[in-house]
Amino acid sequence: MRTIDWVDGAVELIDQTALPGRLTVLRLDTVDELVAAIQRLAVRGAPALGVAGALGVALAAHRPGDTTAAVHLLEHARPTAVNLARGVRRAAARLPEGADAVLAEALTVRDEEIAASAAMANLGADLLAELCGERPRLLTHCNTGALAAVVGGTALGAVLELHRRDALGAVLASETRPLLQGARLTAWELGRAGVPYRVAVDGAGPFLMARGEVDGVVLGADRICANGDVINKIGTYAHALGARRAGIPFVVVAPESTVDPDTADGAQVEIEDRGAAEVLSYGHPPEQRDDLRERDDSGERDDLRERDGRPAGVGAGDAVNPAFDVTPYELVTAIVTERRVIRLDRGERV
Ligand code: MRU
Repeated sequence: MRTIDWVDGAVELIDQTALPGRLTVLRLDTVDELVAAIQRLAVRGAPALGVAGALGVALAAHRPGDTTAAVHLLEHARPTAVNLARGVRRAAARLPEGADAVLAEALTVRDEEIAASAAMANLGADLLAELCGERPRLLTHCNTGALAAVVGGTALGAVLELHRRDALGAVLASETRPLLQGARLTAWELGRAGVPYRVAVDGAGPFLMARGEVDGVVLGADRICANGDVINKIGTYAHALGARRAGIPFVVVAPESTVDPDTADGAQVEIEDRGAAEVLSYGHPPEQRDDLRERDDSGERDDLRERDGRPAGVGAGDAVNPAFDVTPYELVTAIVTERRVIRLDRGERV
């Protein structure tokens, strides 16, 4: 099943906010609906966002209305992953040729990501086997599986490939605050693939590495800068520091569509801040709270009730909620794309 696709004239995608509780497919007929889905992370992950952006332009092209405004909305729906703006621009460049040409380009973006996932899984698995020893115990962060791509995935694709080769020791999936993409999505994907895993609480990674329980860290990227700096889900930098301190490899797996030679380094990248409510509301996205209310027959129910117009469960005070961080290239052992392995530890450059 594809995470996102064009089906009979509309965009269909798996609603990632409903997982792991419910596997729901959303059918989106308008650009406004798609932009809202992108912003609430119903569809997320850099490669999937690139496809969503491109398919969004196809939606706009197939309906009456202002395509320039639609392109602008899509391109700026989220700022950090380079794939989104890139996918939008690629499809938008075909607008003068008509709606069918735009759709063809969007489907090419989709197909390229599918092909990239398969190639990255193999190259990534080869490198992890080489760097991390036999049957490595790997830690991964956030979600980089099929849900973040279209099928396959990036870093998790390489982990799954090692499992297929019967060459995987163990997997730790860090829970990934604030929306728990690791605990909800990576765990769900690993479970479906029959891979034994443990979820690690978010702050535990560096300590587990120091205690000798991890042979390598493998994760994805939302943007890779010209100097090799890696922008990825918040918490990535801490894992890189932990890996360096523990002397274990820190490997990034991402498609060429995430490599951004036009951005010199991480300091130039806009880091999305997702606001306080997302952090101060028990870590559950709003869409899950109804479920929680239904399931909960303990005293927690009272705490989940809306109070004073504030989202359920929100405490007092403010929060800081950067969705991503910057890992300096010096901390990265290697970057794997579908075409190459860049050994930053040996002085190779993007
Ligand atoms: O905010 P998200 O869930 O869209 O961010 C995705 C990530 O940060 C992932 O960690 C990732 O590595 C990029 S997608 C393979």
